[in-house]
Amino acid sequence: MTPIYKVLKNKDVSINPIWIMRQAGRYLPEFREIRKLNPDFIKLCLNEKLAAEITLQPLKRFELDAAIIFSDILMLPYGLNQEVKFKKNFGPQLGNLNLDTISKLDEIDFVKKIYPVYKAINLVSNNKFTENKNTIGFVGAPWTLLVYMLNKHSPKLKLKDNFFKDDFLINRILIILEKYLKLHIKNQIDNGANVIQIFDSWAGLLEEKDLPNYVYIPTLNLVEYVKNLNIPVICFPRNIKNYKTYCEVVKPDAINIDYNIDPIKICRDIKIPVQGGLDPKILLSDKEIIKRETIKYLDIFKNHPYIFNLGHGILPETDPEKVNYLINIVKDFK
Ligand code: CP3
Repeated sequence: MTPIYKVLKNKDVSINPIWIMRQAGRYLPEFREIRKLNPDFIKLCLNEKLAAEITLQPLKRFELDAAIIFSDILMLPYGLNQEVKFKKNFGPQLGNLNLDTISKLDEIDFVKKIYPVYKAINLVSNNKFTENKNTIGFVGAPWTLLVYMLNKHSPKLKLKDNFFKDDFLINRILIILEKYLKLHIKNQIDNGANVIQIFDSWAGLLEEKDLPNYVYIPTLNLVEYVKNLNIPVICFPRNIKNYKTYCEVVKPDAINIDYNIDPIKICRDIKIPVQGGLDPKILLSDKEIIKRETIKYLDIFKNHPYIFNLGHGILPETDPEKVNYLINIVKDFK
């Protein structure tokens, strides 16, 4: 059994497997080299050979326990024929959303448009570098995708005042998203993804009273779908205040925590396996601080099933040598 499965399925507390959010990315010189030659990010995600190669880059360098496929949560709106572009130093920029076009789309068109993503997963999961490791497939949660599709770029700190004005549109999109997210998950699993992570990066923008409608129920539907396919599912509802209620309602196999939440409280309140937490900025400091902060998380969760990870994606300015240092601390922890 893979180390991550031991934690997720057997609740093994004697090991701490590790992978890193955004582990395939801009902090690696070998990624930047490929990226320089491929200015169109979406096209790069749709190049199955390069996407597989980028996915494996961190596994060739470091002793990680999982590959996470080089793709993006915004491949879903792209597959639904909404325009998606990545502008340098700005982030994603989406085109107008046309409900008619999206409603008319069928499943074959969608799969055809993003098919190379599944082929890349297939290449990765059959590669010797993922032997006895997990291949993580992922999706954006319906709420976070809705935010991008309506807001058309990252919302940063708050939603527009009139965000909820067109509730007919919002409810239609959520229904459409559920259908295509299930299809996207199923295809990733059929091609070798053996863990699914659901990223709800903007869950923290909602008030408590809106969580059931936009976060709990839509995510629960996906979690149940993945569980029925016999694949473990990890949820990351970034920056929510009440992880305990989230876990009780949504019931994922594991919960990824962000770096603003007190890990001691999480360990006390939450029974399911936990993943992540370390502030990615810590990796920019000197080794002494990295060691202290890493050991802090390992100590807190020493009697709790725990997968080591960060509390959000690794920063582009991170020195890969520090990543190696972090991984060794986690591997050597007794
Ligand atoms: O983790 C991995 O290594 C796998 C690949 C992965 C990417 N994006 C590649 C990527 C994953 C899992 C994601 C998830 C994702 N994408 C999320 C959820 C996690 C989170 O960060 O909250 C979100 C919100 C997105 C949307 C997105 N994609 C944004 C906001 C940006 C721009 C900001 C940024 O970091 O540049 C992207 C671009 C993106 N996705 C890059 C990568 C490697 C950078 C593209 C580049 O090289 O310019």
